[in-house]
Amino acid sequence: MGRENFADRRFFIHTFGCQMNVHDSEQLANIMTEAGYEQTQDVRQAKIILVNTCSIRSKVAQKIVSQLGRYRRWKDKDPEVIIGVGGCLAQHWGRDMFTKTPYVDLVFGTHAFHEVPQLVDMVRAGHGPVMDTELREEIPSLGICTAGKNGNGKTKHHSLVTIMQGCDNFCTYCVVPYLRGRERSRPSAEIIREIEALVKQGIREITLLGQNVNSYGRGLPEETNFPKLLAMINDISELERIRFTTSHPKDLTGGLVNCFGRLKKLCEHIHLPFQAGSDRVLTRMNRGYTRKDYLERITALRQCCPDIAISADVMVGFPGETAYDFDATLALMEEVCFDNLFSFMYSEREGTVAVSFGEKVPEKERNRRLKILQELQDRHTWERNQALVGKDVDVLVDGASKNDPQELTGRTRTNKIVNFAGPPILRGKTVTLNITGAYLHSLRGELKSPAAINVHKSPEVILGRKSPEVILVQK
Ligand code: 5AD
Ligand code: SF4
Repeated sequence: MGRENFADRRFFIHTFGCQMNVHDSEQLANIMTEAGYEQTQDVRQAKIILVNTCSIRSKVAQKIVSQLGRYRRWKDKDPEVIIGVGGCLAQHWGRDMFTKTPYVDLVFGTHAFHEVPQLVDMVRAGHGPVMDTELREEIPSLGICTAGKNGNGKTKHHSLVTIMQGCDNFCTYCVVPYLRGRERSRPSAEIIREIEALVKQGIREITLLGQNVNSYGRGLPEETNFPKLLAMINDISELERIRFTTSHPKDLTGGLVNCFGRLKKLCEHIHLPFQAGSDRVLTRMNRGYTRKDYLERITALRQCCPDIAISADVMVGFPGETAYDFDATLALMEEVCFDNLFSFMYSEREGTVAVSFGEKVPEKERNRRLKILQELQDRHTWERNQALVGKDVDVLVDGASKNDPQELTGRTRTNKIVNFAGPPILRGKTVTLNITGAYLHSLRGELKSPAAINVHKSPEVILGRKSPEVILVQK
């Protein structure tokens, strides 16, 4: 069969990287489906393999290249298979992608997702290899609503919603501003419309996404900001929970802190990357806050919302980080006692300012510091989770647990995973559980007696605007 009348329109998407990438892949799947392609979860059935990449650390880039090598074997068996590489690494490497991985037919950058069906058509028409890595002012794919189904066909209860894209912060180690372009916020009316549509489709919880969500609104013609947006979303009835990620400490205003005390749907969790505990390192990173600023914000958050769970990103081995600086990071961790921490070894990224910094920390030492830091964090996570044993928590039930299909799993408002025994009918409902066990990565809970707890506690119920929906539980 020639490429002109290539009939099989099944595509497979492989996603590397962060939640932002997961969401971009969901949007890409929608764009492809609307253009008449059909998504498959089985790569062996796909004629179009799209790899959505990440370039934040060099190890991820190595993993992606190995994976592309495996897909190449697929193409060797069936030359009609098209391999497309998109997202951050594609943006970063551009044309070099075709020399580093010559079997790739299509390269699409972070702003070209909406063009992928046309680009695939061009490859199929024999115009390949094809590339689009232009960084645009406006990205049409921002407005696409991605509600609906999980890969397994079941309706989801949680959805990601992009509220802004790009980043203007230029931390000296980070490639994002170069690869995702300048910061742009979506108009609030468009975001509200998207969330209302999602709620109609059964979504109960949303996570607002952006590289720096709390600077939302900058550059928009309307008079708005992140707290105002949160308040508008909080008024959408039937929506139960609001989360957001990622926030930057320098833009965490008092107004945003207060949202945790006054907006009932806003979950008691914040992800607030601190990156380093030493002012000297923070300055070299161009983070725009001091250790004291960060700790003051944590205190304000805890004063406003004592049960708030706090997670963060941190890096070890940034150029010039001394043993003393590293101790300051550990001391900050001791002071905050994070619920969860995503810790990374500094990875030099071409094109960033930090490449020119001297005093590189040897890899062995970076590894050693990472191990010490992770051991400390494990202790803190364990302590924070143990403190919940015996407490009652509200859990939005995701469905059957991955490890034991007889069990259910869900998340607390503080974003902790809880496994418990219960009937499948509870999927998508909020139940109250008593925490009976705590581990490093999850909690164990027990449904409370039906009379006391089998109530759908939406924020409207809590606020007395609506009567509770009673869920019948077969014990
Ligand atoms: N090296 C290591 N970690 C990095 N991050 C971003 N750039 C780098 C880099 N060059 C980490 C930061 C950021 C998270 C998403 O990835 O901690 O918050
Ligand atoms: Fe990268 Fe800093 Fe922007 Fe986060 S705030 S995306 S670390 S430049």
